[in-house]
Order: sequence, then C-alpha cells, then structure tokens
Amino acid sequence: MVKKLDQPPKYWDRLFAPSSCLAMITTVDAQGRPNAASYGTCTRVHHEPVYISFTTTMGKDTANNVLATGEFTVNLPRWERSILEKVRICGLAFAPGVNELEKAGLTALPGKVVKPPRIAECPRHFECKVEWTKEFANGRLMVCGPVVAASVDEDSVDKDGYVLWDRVMSAHYTGAPYSNGFVAAFQTMWVDRPYDGPEGAAYDLHEKQMLKEI
Ligand SMILES: Cc1cc2nc3c(=O)[nH]c(=O)nc-3n(C[C@H](O)[C@H](O)[C@H](O)COP(=O)(O)O)c2cc1C
Repeated sequence: MVKKLDQPPKYWDRLFAPSSCLAMITTVDAQGRPNAASYGTCTRVHHEPVYISFTTTMGKDTANNVLATGEFTVNLPRWERSILEKVRICGLAFAPGVNELEKAGLTALPGKVVKPPRIAECPRHFECKVEWTKEFANGRLMVCGPVVAASVDEDSVDKDGYVLWDRVMSAHYTGAPYSNGFVAAFQTMWVDRPYDGPEGAAYDLHEKQMLKEI
C-alpha cells in the first residue's frame, strides 16, 4: 500500500483538481457505523479556505449521517476499471448500517481528524465538516463544508503539492442517463490567452491574490 502524505492547508486547493470530480463519500451514523456512497456531483466550491459541496437525497444514509454528525470525507477514485466497478457497488441502496466498503472490497483507513474513514484505494482524501445544508427540489439535499484535513498517496503529488495527473487520474461520472459511463479528466493542456486588454491583467492580479501563490 502506498504511504499517505498529510497535506498542509496551503496545498488543499491544488489537491482537489479539477474542481469537480467523481467521489466516494464516507460518513458514519450516530452509532459510529461507517457508510460509503458514490457521488458524481462533488465540487470544490471555494479556494481559500477550501470548501467542498455535493448533492444527495433526503432519507439516504449519507444525508441522515451528515445531518446527524456534521462530518463527511471525500475520497477521489482513479479512472481505473477496478475501482470504478467498486464505485458502482457503493452506489447501490444497501440497508442502513451496512458497510458498503466491505460489500465492495474496499479498505477503510481511519480519518486523521473526523470520524468517517478514508478509502485506502483512493489516492486523495478530503475530511470535511458540514457548514450548511440546503434542501431543494422536493427532497434533494445540498451539503457544503470546509476541508479540515487532506491526505494523498505519496507518489501522486510533487514536492509543492501539485497533483501528478497521470497518477491521480481524475474521473467524472457521465450521469444517470448514461448509467455506467465514466469520463477521464486528466489530459492537460496549458493554454495562452490571446487578448491584451486591461481585463486580462486585472484577472491575473485577482487570481494571484485569491490563490496567495507561495
Ligand atoms: C457513479 C455514481 C454517481 C452517483 N452520483 C450521485 C450524486 O451525485 N447524487 C446522488 O444523490 N446520488 C448519486 N449516486 C447514487 C448514490 O450513490 C446512491 O443513491 C446510494 O445508494 C446512496 O447511498 P447511501 O444510502 O448509503 O447514502 C451515484 C451513484 C453512482 C454509481
């Protein structure tokens, strides 16, 4: 098993890239029993401090656990068939109290700060506290909160905490209408901005201040 590196807060933003990812979210219930479920709607919604958001359904174990405990952990899987098959298993509706990690053959690692476990087979982990939830559209629940700890496989980031794209191999879910499809999200291209107006310089300044480049 690859060693996990604890990442300092200044690297959390660059670790959750691209800003929206397929995720397996772990929670625990009021009795401390672990739960895992798959989410295609997981997005990094604020840079500094890093906030993560996702949507789920009221009444599902994840929603009940988040509301009961105020904690969740986001685990980002690779675009690899073996783990994506397990992502699909974690997307099934198991009864409350059933540990999906065991059903899917995934390995639980204790969290560093919060109670939900990390999933060892995922290279990146974001432990979060719930800051707010919002019910909408007749039974959907949006969950949002700050990252309080992040860790990563030691072979998946460089010395400055930037992800190595061919190691983290971010994936997206094609969405329910496509049923079992996943899209790779790790081909990179650094792109010029062929525009000389003042808005360009203003944007660069804003970006630099926002990201407090170190
Ligand atoms: C790839 C994949 C992506 C999914 N994305 C979402 C999502 O973004 N939102 C959601 O509510 N359910 C999503 N689901 C369905 C949940 O994982 C499913 O409802 C699960 O049973 C919830 O588990 P729980 O009862 O343990 O919370 C997804 C399922 C799969 C397989």
